[in-house]
Amino acid sequence: ATARTDAARGLRFSPVAPNTTDAVVVPEGYDQNVVIRWGEPILRGAPAFDPERQTAEAQAGQFGYNNDFLALLPLPGECDRQLLVANHEYTDEVLMFRGYDAANPTRQQVEVAWAAHGLTAVVVEEDRKTGSLTAVPRHHLNRRVTATTEFRLTGPAAGSDLLKTSADPTGRKVLGTLNNCSGGTTPWGTTLHGEENFNQYFANATRATDKRYGIGTGATERKWERFDKRFDVAQEPNEVHRFGYVVEFDPYDPTSTPRKHTALGRFKHEAATVRLTDDGRPVVYSGDDERFDYFYKFVGSKRMRHGTSRAVREHNLSLLDEGTLYVARLTGDSPATDIDGSGKLPADGEFDGSGTWIPLATATADGAVSHVEGMTAEEVFVFTRLAGDKVSATKMDRPEDIQPSPVTGKVYVVLTNNSNRGKTGYAPADEANPRNANKHGHILELTERRGRAESTTFAWSLFLVAGDPGDPATYFAGFPKDKVSPISCPDNVAFDPYGNLWISTDGNQLGSHDGLFGVATRGDRRGELKQFLTVPTGAETCGPIVQDRRVIVAVQHPGEIDGASVEKPASTWPDGPGKIVRPAVVAVWRADGRDIGI
Ligand code: FEO
Ligand code: CA
Ligand code: CA
Ligand code: CA
Repeated sequence: ATARTDAARGLRFSPVAPNTTDAVVVPEGYDQNVVIRWGEPILRGAPAFDPERQTAEAQAGQFGYNNDFLALLPLPGECDRQLLVANHEYTDEVLMFRGYDAANPTRQQVEVAWAAHGLTAVVVEEDRKTGSLTAVPRHHLNRRVTATTEFRLTGPAAGSDLLKTSADPTGRKVLGTLNNCSGGTTPWGTTLHGEENFNQYFANATRATDKRYGIGTGATERKWERFDKRFDVAQEPNEVHRFGYVVEFDPYDPTSTPRKHTALGRFKHEAATVRLTDDGRPVVYSGDDERFDYFYKFVGSKRMRHGTSRAVREHNLSLLDEGTLYVARLTGDSPATDIDGSGKLPADGEFDGSGTWIPLATATADGAVSHVEGMTAEEVFVFTRLAGDKVSATKMDRPEDIQPSPVTGKVYVVLTNNSNRGKTGYAPADEANPRNANKHGHILELTERRGRAESTTFAWSLFLVAGDPGDPATYFAGFPKDKVSPISCPDNVAFDPYGNLWISTDGNQLGSHDGLFGVATRGDRRGELKQFLTVPTGAETCGPIVQDRRVIVAVQHPGEIDGASVEKPASTWPDGPGKIVRPAVVAVWRADGRDIGI
């Protein structure tokens, strides 16, 4: 009973204990349902899911694989309905196809995988009586975007020689999006999607720039290069320069061509989250999810317009084409000798300091200007990691999601882990990344100067240093550690209506399953972290959305355990024994119909 009342508003639930149950486990008094699973038909004419007879054509009309980011947008005029947008980050062929031969995938399997990547827009409807949320098949706004859908490259690098290929001499038209991890929702009613680990789809790369992006010198694991030469860098050197961007999607216009915004730079974009300056210009934060890589901010120069006319929507879709791209450099305020790599707090009692947003390049209507010596503006936008290297940006422990609080304006930067920190040949711990061999990750709280989104300097401190609270090298914003849940490998974050931060995890190193947690960011309960749910065996928790009455999560890659396959499943979620494991979206609500955590 104490757990329900003795907590911050929005977090009054009995925490779920760490566990290894092959299920989604929610607090006492809460109910759940599966909103939509991989393979469920959403478009007109799409067949029912049949794992034994998969085709690319069927998959292109069905919900894709490995749901990650989720957005839920209003549908005015349609009672109890909202528009769900989901990312489909990647495919797990060995869990999708019976008898999959990794050395010799068939053309059909490869084409199914192309169709299982990308995005989904699907209308969902709530049942007011039960609280459940279900997909509405064949709605006219339902749409699939896949690895072969036409995209437009926009912004300062569009049309440059670096982006031209034999199939596209204009350098402006790309087929498909890959590895969409997390994303964001814009104030003008579109969604953003980060192309993250795009390197894994490209084979036979030898250039230094490719190496900096982790693109391999040999064959890829999926072997797509055997079926389409654009995935072979030796044959089509510039195709790989057309992935690694932030994608913008207009889910209200099912005929729209989605865009890739070069002005936000090219790296392993985990996500892209937007806020507005006081005068209405967009500011976008994005992390590059790699050990020792950077996080970035884009400040637009054009103001958002209000309204729904075609001209207004077209204007707003161009907002991310002009502005300045910055990378973060952080300085600690404690002497370096205070940071010993163990995670022990420095003498001033806090991991904290100041920071600068270093400009990399500016895009205008008349062209682009580089701020990095030795690189053209086009090079900065296409080889952004190299620009960050040149200006000595701060090497972070894998920047994942970055979210500004809608209540306080403080910005939360999630660093998931970094097993190489402090190893021979790698950067040692610093005040912003204070643990060597960082297994559990941390979350940084950033305050833009004067609270203005466009500021070029900021203050920062660590809000959370994750792990088992019994471990002295953890920190929960100063909250008593005997009252918090253990947490490891934070990845995506979202805010609830009260300004609590909700954190989903990927890769829990504490021996229990991944899950979703809520933590107060202000008041006398700041730092009190409580686990709200856990996910099935092998899964990570993604795409959290926390509304008044409902929590929605994407259960990504359930059953993804070394050695598992269709024949030897590690998980039987969500449909039970004998059924193929399927990534799916889950809704959770209070059985008594009241608000979450009240
Ligand atoms: Fe796809 Fe950085 O997680
Ligand atoms: Ca300090
Ligand atoms: Ca992620
Ligand atoms: Ca992750």
